[in-house]
Amino acid sequence: MIRPAELIQRKRDGQELPGEEISELVLSYARDEVPDYQLAAFCMAVYFQGLSSAETFALTDAMVRSGETIDLGAALGRRVVDKHSTGGVGDKTTLAVGPIVAACGVPFRKMSGRGLGHTGGTLDKLESIPGFRVELTTAEFVAQVQEIGLAIVGQTADLVPADKKLYGLRDVTATVDNVSLIAASIMSKKIASGADAIVLDVKVGDGAFMKTLTDARVLAETMLALGQRAGRDVVCVLTDMDQPLGRAVGNALEVREALATVRGEGPPDFAELVLESSAHLLALSDLGVDRAEARARAEQAVADGSAVAAYERWVRAQGGDPDEAALPKAPVIREVFAPRAGHVQRLAALPVGLAALHLGAGRREKDEAIDHAVGIVCSKKRGDAVEEGEPLAEIHAADERSAGEAAAEVLRAYELGDEEPRARSIVLDTLG
Ligand code: URA
Repeated sequence: MIRPAELIQRKRDGQELPGEEISELVLSYARDEVPDYQLAAFCMAVYFQGLSSAETFALTDAMVRSGETIDLGAALGRRVVDKHSTGGVGDKTTLAVGPIVAACGVPFRKMSGRGLGHTGGTLDKLESIPGFRVELTTAEFVAQVQEIGLAIVGQTADLVPADKKLYGLRDVTATVDNVSLIAASIMSKKIASGADAIVLDVKVGDGAFMKTLTDARVLAETMLALGQRAGRDVVCVLTDMDQPLGRAVGNALEVREALATVRGEGPPDFAELVLESSAHLLALSDLGVDRAEARARAEQAVADGSAVAAYERWVRAQGGDPDEAALPKAPVIREVFAPRAGHVQRLAALPVGLAALHLGAGRREKDEAIDHAVGIVCSKKRGDAVEEGEPLAEIHAADERSAGEAAAEVLRAYELGDEEPRARSIVLDTLG
């Protein structure tokens, strides 16, 4: 039997812990045999002292073993590919990548999460589609992937229950942003849900957990190592989150933008990330194609309409109405105007994410209701030229008061200047 207080003390003092002790701590916690306050103290000790790669692997492995694992590959007779983003502002990539990959003949299934703080969640975006069901039974989930090749659902309670408990605890004890804890949390869910190959999108910038490229690389390398030790193929793309991804931020607005992108009419940065992510997934799949051929097939699925058809089939299969006109619309739309002419030097992601949160697009507390219609459309992005008085962004709000407050917040997120800033590509680096 481990003594949690002794483990906490040894970690606090910077000692490396044997894997089996970490394992017992996590599994005992998942069975409610160790109280929250001891795990909170343990996470804080880890936050300051870090975990070695062996300790991080032991933590991940114990989290996987805390619940059920799914072997969809066996049910499908196919190699299972998966993607994950570390979270950002305006990140609706899964909504466009899923239909493109499915249209190319590779089954795509994913368990997604809800929004957290200023970062949006795929499930909340999907629930802005009238009738869409994010909770399917395991049997329904498997049948849908077999029949139409695409399903995106919420995580079942039995998958990595240790992460569910631990994440809630970290969220309220200032211990989320530690590389080992983030890597173990993400990779345990990917491994338990049966992914053979995983594309990880590690966001970098003021709207992301990882603020610098150096920190993002450390997180990416940690996740790559965990995936490899578990026998999975992993590719990490490090992508820009110094400004919102695409133009739309807010649930229904993001679904509209994802649909436009699947039709080939998306904003350039978002469309590029969607095609790159789709190409990585296709190249890792059992199609047996290289990256260049994978990219060509993804582009073809967008151009010939098969990706839109896959989107419509998928949304209908989960009970939703795929018609764009069915998405909710906010009653108040207010424009934000440029106070001077020039170029957009910066459009900070975090304040735009917070403005969307304040409009009601996200939750300040767990289980809070959200307004699917509200959000922001940033029509001007970094590098764009603007005239004085030209619209920079559009606020979609429930009332005039919240629209006014959000407009002021969004205006503060823009930095205008004379020089055209150096272009920065959406994909900053690729590892693995
Ligand atoms: N996303 C997760 O799933 N877990 C973390 O710890 C951070 C981001």
